[in-house]
Amino acid sequence: MNIIENISGKTVAVTGADGFIGSHLSELLVQSGARVRALVYYNSWNELGWLGDAQQSLVDQMELVNGDIRDTELIRKFVKGCDYVFHLSSLIAIPYSYEAPRSYIDTNVMGAINVLQACRDSDSLTRLVHVSTSEVYGTAQQVPISESHPLVGQSPYSASKIAADKMAESFYLSFGLPVVTARPFNTFGPRQTARAVIPTIASQLAAGASKLTLGALHPTRDFNYATDTAAGMLALGLCPAAAGKVVNIGSGEEWSIGETAKILCELSGREVEIQTDDNRIRPENSEVFRLLADNCLIHELTGWKSRVSFRDGLSNTLEWIQRNKHLFNPERYSK
Ligand SMILES: NC(=O)c1ccc[n+]([C@@H]2O[C@H](COP(=O)([O-])OP(=O)(O)OC[C@H]3O[C@@H](n4cnc5c(N)ncnc54)[C@H](O)[C@@H]3O)[C@@H](O)[C@H]2O)c1
Repeated sequence: MNIIENISGKTVAVTGADGFIGSHLSELLVQSGARVRALVYYNSWNELGWLGDAQQSLVDQMELVNGDIRDTELIRKFVKGCDYVFHLSSLIAIPYSYEAPRSYIDTNVMGAINVLQACRDSDSLTRLVHVSTSEVYGTAQQVPISESHPLVGQSPYSASKIAADKMAESFYLSFGLPVVTARPFNTFGPRQTARAVIPTIASQLAAGASKLTLGALHPTRDFNYATDTAAGMLALGLCPAAAGKVVNIGSGEEWSIGETAKILCELSGREVEIQTDDNRIRPENSEVFRLLADNCLIHELTGWKSRVSFRDGLSNTLEWIQRNKHLFNPERYSK
C-alpha cells in the first residue's frame, strides 16, 4: 500500500456532483474536510439534482456552480485553483446512446477534453481522477477482468468512454498530467434512477406490482454499493502511485440479474412472477453478458475494499426507493 495524502483543507472540484455517484462522493469529500466546488448541470429551474437529496448540512458547505461540461471557458474557471479534480459528468445510459450517439461524443469526449485541458493549464493541481466505466471492456473475454483486458466499443456509450479514457492516457504520457483513470463496475444504491436494473426491480416491487417486467435475466454484473465506489475514487485521488494508471473499482463478486431480482423479492417479502419485455433487451451483439472485476490493483495501491455487502446494499436501496416512490414511475421504461 502506498502513501495516502490528506484531503482535509484542500479545494476539490467535482463534475457530475449533482448525479447519483457524484452526490455521494461530494458528501464524502465534505465529511473528509475538503472544500468542495460542485458542478451542477445548468437548468433554468435551479434544481440541484441528487444534491437535493443529500445531507443539507453538507450541501451548505459546498460551493455550487451551475454549468455545462461542454463549455470550455466555464470549465477552465471551474477547475482554477483546485488541488484535486474528480470528473464524473457524463451521459451514461446505454439505450439512449443508441439513439443519440453524437450527444455522447459532445458530453463524454469533448467534456473530458475540457477538463483535461483545464487541469493541464492549472498551476495548483495535485491530481485529476477521471471516471471511466467497466462497460469499456464489453463482455468479459476472461474473468476476473483486469485493467489489461481488451477494450470493446459494444455500445456508443462504451465507445465514447474509451475515447475519453484514451485522451486521459495521452495527457499523462504526453504532458505528465497527474491523472488516474478510475474504472468503476456497476454501482447501485440510493439516488440511482430506474434506467438501471436494481432501481427498476425495486421500484416495481415498491409499487406493489404483481409481475416484474425486466430485460435479460442471465447477464451477470459486479455490483458495488455507491458509498464504496465513492470511497474507491477518493482513495485513488489520494494515492500518488496511482497517477498514470487505470484502476478498476469493483466488489469482486458476480450476481446475475435473475439472482438480484430474487434477493430483492425476498427482502420485500413478496413472491412475484418475472416476465421479459422485448423492449428492454439490448441488440444481441451489444449485450454485455458478463462483468466481474479483478480488484487487486486498487487494493494493492490503496488498501481499498468494498465494505457494504450486496444484501445490505440492496436492503438500503429498497428502503430508500420505498420512501421515494413518488420519484419512480414503474409503468414507464426509462432509457
Ligand atoms: N452508475 C454506474 O453503475 C456507473 C458505473 C461505472 C461508471 N460510472 C460512471 O460514473 C460517472 C457518474 O455516473 P452516475 O451513475 O452517477 O450517473 P448520473 O447520470 O447520475 O450522473 C452523471 C452526471 O453528469 C451530469 N451531466 C450530464 N451531462 C452534462 C453536461 N453537459 N454538463 C454538466 N453535467 C452533465 C448530470 O447532471 C449528472 O449529474 C459517469 O462518468 C459514469 O460513466 C457509473
